[in-house]
Amino acid sequence: PGDFALRGKAAAKVVILGAGVAGLTAAYELGKAGYDCTLLEAREKAGGRNLTLRGGDRLTELTGPAQEVTFGEGVYFNAGPGRIAPWMVTLDYCRELGIPIETFVNNNASAYVHTNGQTRRARTARADMYGYVAELLAKATNLGALDKAITRDDQERLLEFLRRFGDLGPKLEYEGSPRRGFVKYPAINRGTPLDAPGTLRQVLAAGTGRAITNDFGYDQATPMFQPVGGMDMIVTKLTEAVGQDRIITGAKVTKITALDDGVEVVYDGGTIKADYCVATLPPHILAKIPHNLGAEVTAALKTPVPVAAGKIGLEYGRRWWELEDRIYGGVTETDLDITHIWYPSHDYHSDRGVIVGYYNTERHAELYGALTPEDRRRRALTQGKKIHGEKYRQNLLSSVSIAWERQPHIQGGWVRWPAFDSSFTLLQRPAGRVYFAGDWLTHLIAWQAGAMESARGAVTQLHQRVLQSP
Ligand code: PHE
Repeated sequence: PGDFALRGKAAAKVVILGAGVAGLTAAYELGKAGYDCTLLEAREKAGGRNLTLRGGDRLTELTGPAQEVTFGEGVYFNAGPGRIAPWMVTLDYCRELGIPIETFVNNNASAYVHTNGQTRRARTARADMYGYVAELLAKATNLGALDKAITRDDQERLLEFLRRFGDLGPKLEYEGSPRRGFVKYPAINRGTPLDAPGTLRQVLAAGTGRAITNDFGYDQATPMFQPVGGMDMIVTKLTEAVGQDRIITGAKVTKITALDDGVEVVYDGGTIKADYCVATLPPHILAKIPHNLGAEVTAALKTPVPVAAGKIGLEYGRRWWELEDRIYGGVTETDLDITHIWYPSHDYHSDRGVIVGYYNTERHAELYGALTPEDRRRRALTQGKKIHGEKYRQNLLSSVSIAWERQPHIQGGWVRWPAFDSSFTLLQRPAGRVYFAGDWLTHLIAWQAGAMESARGAVTQLHQRVLQSP
C-alpha cells in the first residue's frame, strides 16, 4: 500500500510545538526519515483534541470545577473527534499503526428526528419527504410543466424513477409506505402499520430537511469508522512510534526566535535550540506567543476565528436505546440546542454505554459551555427527555462534558477562516525555519485527516529543503 514516507534520510534536529495529531504525525514521519524530533506539549498529555475520556480521568477547564470521570471498566467517551470517512488519510494511519477499526454508524433509519416539537423515526421522516417530493414532481411532469425541459421519453424514465424514489401508488400519489416503519413489525402476521402520514403541508411544516440530509455529504456518508477501544488509540500508537521520551509535557511555549542557523524556543521548563521548528498549535494560541517572524505572520495567525464546540457523555447502566428503542448506533438529529444525540457504535448489548447527549457548536455550545457541569447535564437531560421520555433520566450513572473553547491551551473546537485568502496561503509556507501545520491550515478543518495532511505537507517541504541544503 502507498503509505507516506519521506524519500531519503536526513539528520536535522526539529522542535515540534504541540503533540496533537498534527504534531505527532509530523514527528512520526520525520522520525521515519531519520530526524531527531522533540515535541513540546503544554497540556499534561499528548493528543490535543483527540481526547478519549475513561474512568479515573480528570478534566479541567479554564474556569469552573474540575470533573472526575467515574465511568465503569471499559466504558469510554470520545470527547473530540468521533468518526472517520473511508477516504480520509486517518484510516491509512490506523492501518500502518496496526489500530483495529470498526464501523461508526452515522446514518441510522431507526434513530429519531426531532423537529418542531415532533419526534419520529428517521425512516418515517425520509419516507414522507421523499414520497411527497416524488409525487409533486410526477404531477408537474404529467401536467406538462417539463415539456420544454425534457423529452417524452425522458419524462417516462423520470416517472419510473420517481415511482421508486417515493414508493408511489398506481396514480403516482404518495399514500404512505412500509418504508415508514411499523408500530409492530411483520412476523407471522403482517404487522401493525403506523398512522397514515400527515399531509404534504404537515410534512413540510415539520422541517426535517437538515436532519435527513446530513449523511448526503461526502464527509458524512455511510460507512464511517472509528478505532476499536477509543479514538485515542491513534494517539497511543503514534506516541509509541515516536517515542514517549521525545514528548515534553507541561511545556508551554513562551517565545519563538528565528536565528540565522536555526530556531530557539523558550518554554516553561527550559530552552531548546533546533535546526527547524514545526508549529502546530491553534493559530489563536500561536498568535499570542512572542516571536520574531514578522507582523505579517502575526496578522495571518489572528485571522481564523475559533469556533466553540461541546459534547456531553452520559453513562447509563442499561442500554435502553438498544433494548427499548432498537437503536444500535447512529445519530438522532434535533432542532433543540443539543443538536444531536449519538448512540454508541460499539459494545452493543453490553451492560453500560455512553450516549453523547449533546454535540453542538457556536452559540449553543457557548450556552452550554458557560454552565457548570451539573447544569449542562440537567439541561441535556431535559432536552433529551423530549425525545426519549422519562427513561432518559433513569439508569443514568454519570456524565462528563467538555467545552472545547474552555480547554486550556486549545480554546476552540476548531477555527473558521473568514476567507481562504493570502493569510491561509502565507502560513502554508515556512516563516524562515518555522513551518506551520494543523487542520486549521487545510480544507479539512475539524478533521484529524486535516491535521495529518497538513503535517505531511509541512515535513515534505522541510525535508526537501534539508536535502537541498549543502
Ligand atoms: N468532523 C466533525 C464532525 O464530524 C466536524 C465537522 C462536521 C466538520 C461537519 C465538517 C463537517 O462532526
